[in-house]
Amino acid sequence: MGVVHGAPGEGYVMSSSPESERPRPEQQRGDLYETALTREAYVREKRLLQIELLKLQAHITRSSERVLILFEGRDAAGKGGAITRFMEHLNPRGARVVALDKPSDTERTQWYFQRYVAHLPSGGEIVMMDRSWYNRAGVERVMGYCSSAEYEEFIQTVPEFERMLVGSGIRLVKLWFSIDEAEQRRRFARRGEDAVAQWKLSPTDLASVDRWDEYIAAEEAMFVQTDTPALPWIVIASNDKRRARLEAMRCVLSRFDYPGKDPLIAHAPDPRLVGRPSQIHH
Ligand code: ADP
Ligand code: MLT
Repeated sequence: MGVVHGAPGEGYVMSSSPESERPRPEQQRGDLYETALTREAYVREKRLLQIELLKLQAHITRSSERVLILFEGRDAAGKGGAITRFMEHLNPRGARVVALDKPSDTERTQWYFQRYVAHLPSGGEIVMMDRSWYNRAGVERVMGYCSSAEYEEFIQTVPEFERMLVGSGIRLVKLWFSIDEAEQRRRFARRGEDAVAQWKLSPTDLASVDRWDEYIAAEEAMFVQTDTPALPWIVIASNDKRRARLEAMRCVLSRFDYPGKDPLIAHAPDPRLVGRPSQIHH
């Protein structure tokens, strides 16, 4: 049993059973590994993958490719933590994190994608977006920060927008960090107690915990419209933070060929933890 037990291309299995009885992918995944990855194993593996990321970065610098990685997922899913590990040993000249604040009054008057376009990668750059235009399909939709007309316009046009990016030569990787409801609540509780993490616990977070099912529905709709073979979403089971971070690195590395690639380290992601949304039963 795993993330990718559905037949390829099968799409969503919309269950008619009550919410509480529906198997969540994360619940199914929760038991996949009975023990957490030890700290030692994690640190060792992380370092090896970071060396691969450096080889990839050298290749991107040389070839002047443009790389854009979207880090998406529910609040507290571990997007920021994963980005920190990506960035840890990269040359900051050539790798940037973009974490935009909520839109300003001026930005609200603009084309929705405009403020993101300003941060797209130039040749030789890796840009990591901590949240992205997909805010409109998630938090903005669920929390009512946009109108339904704005949402409709977004969801209809985002595939075309991404096709334009990819058509122009940008290598786009869309990562979705997936945690279950209990894990999100645990992480919020910990943030509340931890002085260095309190800034992460926002009013939006607190308002979001009671809207789990609305987020699920919003995500299903988003995946249906925006997960295509040319523009795939990669879902990473993230209840186990360490494994999720390592798998995220593998997801990116496996998309590229670069000199000196070590197939024993940069191998395909673990199919028990990583899959396309269409391969997951919601
Ligand atoms: P984060 O989880 O990124 O630390 P928050 O939990 O505060 O941030 O907010 C979640 C997302 O919702 C952020 O990307 C934020 O910019 C966005 N957001 C919050 N308030 C609004 C708003 N009024 N309009 C649009 N987006 C908003
Ligand atoms: C999130 O996913 O909400 C945060 O980025 C968590 C983290 O800091 O890793």
